[in-house]
Amino acid sequence: MVRRILLVGFMGSGKTVVGRELARLLGWSFLDFDEEIAHRVGLSIPEVFRQHGEPFFREVEAEVGRELLARERVVLASGGGWPAAPGRMETLGKDTLSVWLVVSPGEAVRRSRRQGGGRPLLEGPGVLAEARRLLEEREPAYRLAELHLPTEGAAPDEIAREIVHHLETENRTRPPEAEAPRG
Ligand code: S3P
Repeated sequence: MVRRILLVGFMGSGKTVVGRELARLLGWSFLDFDEEIAHRVGLSIPEVFRQHGEPFFREVEAEVGRELLARERVVLASGGGWPAAPGRMETLGKDTLSVWLVVSPGEAVRRSRRQGGGRPLLEGPGVLAEARRLLEEREPAYRLAELHLPTEGAAPDEIAREIVHHLETENRTRPPEAEAPRG
C-alpha cells in the first residue's frame, strides 16, 4: 500500500506544481524539500548556496529527506539533486511510489528562466551544457523511479491525474486486506 509519493526529476521538471495538484486530488499534504530547507536555515535556496556553500546545502537536504520520507499521506517533491547521492533511490520502501518527471535539458533551462531563476546550478554562461552534464550524471538515479512520465506536451494537472490513475489501476491505495478475494 502506498503511503507517500516521491516526485523526482531534474530542475524545472515540474515536481512542485505537479506535486501540489496531486496532493489536492488525493487529499494528502504536499511537502517540498527545498521549501523545508529554506525554512530550517532561514534563507532562500540561492542564499544558502551563496552563504554556506553546496556541501552544507546537501547536508541539510539529506536530513530533510530522511525526515520527510517517514511521513504518511504526503506527496513529496525532492530537489533535483537529492536522488543522485548513492543508495537513496535504492532504499525507498515499497510504501513509497517514486515518480520520475522527465524533462530535456533545453526545456529545463527555458522553464527555469521563465520562472525567474533562483536555481544556483542553472545560472551563468554555459548553462545549457551544464544542464546536459548534470542530467546525464543523474539520469541513472532518476531511472530507478517506479513510474516515468514525460512532462513536455502534458499539462501538470494531466500528469497528476495520470499518477492517480496509476495508483488506482495498481490497486495500491487500498490495504491488501480490503481487496476482494480472488477466484
Ligand atoms: C538542485 C535543484 C533545486 C534545488 C537546488 C539544487 C539540483 O531544486 O534543490 O537549487 O541540484 O538539481 P529543484 O529541482 O526543485 O529546482
